Amino acid sequence: GKVLLAYSGGLDTSCILAWLLEEGYEVQAYMADVGQEEDFEEARAKALGLGASKVHIVDLRREFVEELIFPAVQTNAIYEGVYLLGTSLARPVIARSQIQIAQAEGCTHVSHGCTGKGNDQVRFELAYYALAPGIQVIAPWRVPAFFNRFQGRNDLLAYAAEKSIPVVQTAAKPWSTDENLFHISYEAGILEDPNVTPPHDMWKLTVAPEDAPNTPERIHITFEAGRPVRVVNQDDGTAVTDPLDLFLYLNALARRHGIGRVDIVENRFIGIKSRGCYETPGGTILRVAHVDLEGLVLDREVRQYRDEHVTPAFSKLLYNGLYFSPEGALITSTIAASQKNVNGVVRLKLYKGNAVVEGRFSETEKLYDMEESSMDVQGGFSPQDSEGFIKIQSIRLKKWGGKF
Ligand code: ARG
Ligand code: SIN
Repeated sequence: GKVLLAYSGGLDTSCILAWLLEEGYEVQAYMADVGQEEDFEEARAKALGLGASKVHIVDLRREFVEELIFPAVQTNAIYEGVYLLGTSLARPVIARSQIQIAQAEGCTHVSHGCTGKGNDQVRFELAYYALAPGIQVIAPWRVPAFFNRFQGRNDLLAYAAEKSIPVVQTAAKPWSTDENLFHISYEAGILEDPNVTPPHDMWKLTVAPEDAPNTPERIHITFEAGRPVRVVNQDDGTAVTDPLDLFLYLNALARRHGIGRVDIVENRFIGIKSRGCYETPGGTILRVAHVDLEGLVLDREVRQYRDEHVTPAFSKLLYNGLYFSPEGALITSTIAASQKNVNGVVRLKLYKGNAVVEGRFSETEKLYDMEESSMDVQGGFSPQDSEGFIKIQSIRLKKWGGKF
């Protein structure tokens, strides 16, 4: 058979590539560029050197931003109150492109290097099967012939030496990472003890808040239908509108000001708990700004319905790897309807780990009426009307009679 392997250039997937060849497969390598820091050409050479018959490198950054990241901003997607879903959000575009290439190349199999205990195996494979029901999956870390042979890093290193797989001589970091332009995750290794503080030099995408500049920076973010369309730096006048550039620009600002670090223990879909540290620089600024603008422009009931039903459903969908599913299509189709009126500008101050809202306005949305909301102006409706409102609301409370 012919296999398309999701390849990273690292030790694990290099050994998997060599092992698949040893098992008699023809192997093509697939690398998705979702904005991770990576020497793609070096990895291409490595895969070809190992015996891959072809290497595919696909730039998915723009579709990642426009199809997954912006909808996540529009729904304020979040898992267990903290995690902005950075790894989960990249999986649909990576899996979709892998399947498209596998089909174009006539591959009968796809393969990946995910472990048997994680979320990613579930996400990749549910996406594969939804998009190509007949595809066959090889997950070496779940194949006894593979995992019994490679029980630790030393076994992989020995195999690499045997197969002349070049191993980059950087000391292995005592944790594992997954990176894309939205975030980086750190898990496993020394982080498995949830009470171990991550070392200062682990964090890669942001400076420590205490090392951030003592002078704040101010930006305006304009949203149209809940999607960020313009960022203007109030200090130097920089203005960015292209979706990918805009997102990367926010990343650069957040990095400098130490914004977007979290450290949590989460529940994996598989049912086990896992400790993870994440940096989501630009995504954290967008979340703060978008949540804020909705306060100004979103109808109360639309907001409550969305918060209670759409936000958790969309977040869970992404976390559990069910983006490509019947309910996925339904849930994502509600996003645009909830965001029609999310038009306006949020003014923010970036300072030592925080994105602080300093004000917001909308030229088009008029739900907020300054006179109606004012404590000083008699406008909108009469205070006596509120008396009736309270009387009616209190009927059942009076009947109940304070039986604590
Ligand atoms: N726990 C996070 C998630 O499930 C991050 C996973 C990181 N994945 C990885 N292959 N290192 O989304
Ligand atoms: C893995 O197990 O491959 C990484 C962690 C995860 O998928 O949750």
